[in-house]
Amino acid sequence: MQLKLERCIIRPWRLDDAESLARYANNGKIWLAVRDRFPHPYTMQDAHEFLQRAMTEQPEMKFCIEMEGAAVGGVGVHPGQDVHRHTATVGYWLGEDFWGRGIMTEAVTAVTNFCFENFPLRRISAEVFANNPASARVLEKAGFIFEARLKNHVLKDGQVLDSLLYARTK
Ligand SMILES: CC(C)(COP(=O)(O)OP(=O)(O)OC[C@H]1O[C@@H](n2cnc3c(N)ncnc32)[C@H](O)[C@@H]1OP(=O)(O)O)[C@@H](O)C(=O)NCCC(=O)NCCS
Repeated sequence: MQLKLERCIIRPWRLDDAESLARYANNGKIWLAVRDRFPHPYTMQDAHEFLQRAMTEQPEMKFCIEMEGAAVGGVGVHPGQDVHRHTATVGYWLGEDFWGRGIMTEAVTAVTNFCFENFPLRRISAEVFANNPASARVLEKAGFIFEARLKNHVLKDGQVLDSLLYARTK
């Protein structure tokens, strides 16, 4: 699979992405906006471990954002289980050098469209920490609908935060 978009390319991760992945993912501003399972600092070993997992997953639902030939970000789709098996959640991050150019709006729109077309999904949701208006805006521009504010739902970097639940349904 490869999606050639106006601003970036979306494709599966490759083993040779490790160096670029570690370079762009190693950023405290990114870590503050994502789950604690995203390593910080982000080492080459973290990159290798992630790539091994992403590349062996079936179906492959972790996608790389490529700009100027380099892996500069990721969009990961996580399928639900049991009675939630027709749903998925999506998470994403982008190297700071590339923020503010509309790249993630394009990437999240394309990946969610791709997943609705290729997998039997009826709902894709995303949860944004309430202190991250840029990410909430990305979801709104990508056609997600705001569903709820989850009070005190997140403990990040010692701070209790609300989170904002968004979803696209089919
Ligand atoms: C959030 C993130 C994905 C945005 O990616 P991006 O490619 O810069 O996003 P886009 O350029 O497509 O869109 C950003 C939108 O947010 C808006 N925005 C940026 N900062 C903002 C702020 N402080 N308040 C309100 N809106 C803001 C931009 O103006 C733009 O909206 P517009 O097109 O209506 O002007 C990127 O900054 C990132 O990776 N951050 C760290 C990790 C993260 O937050 N991941 C998501 C976890 S839920």
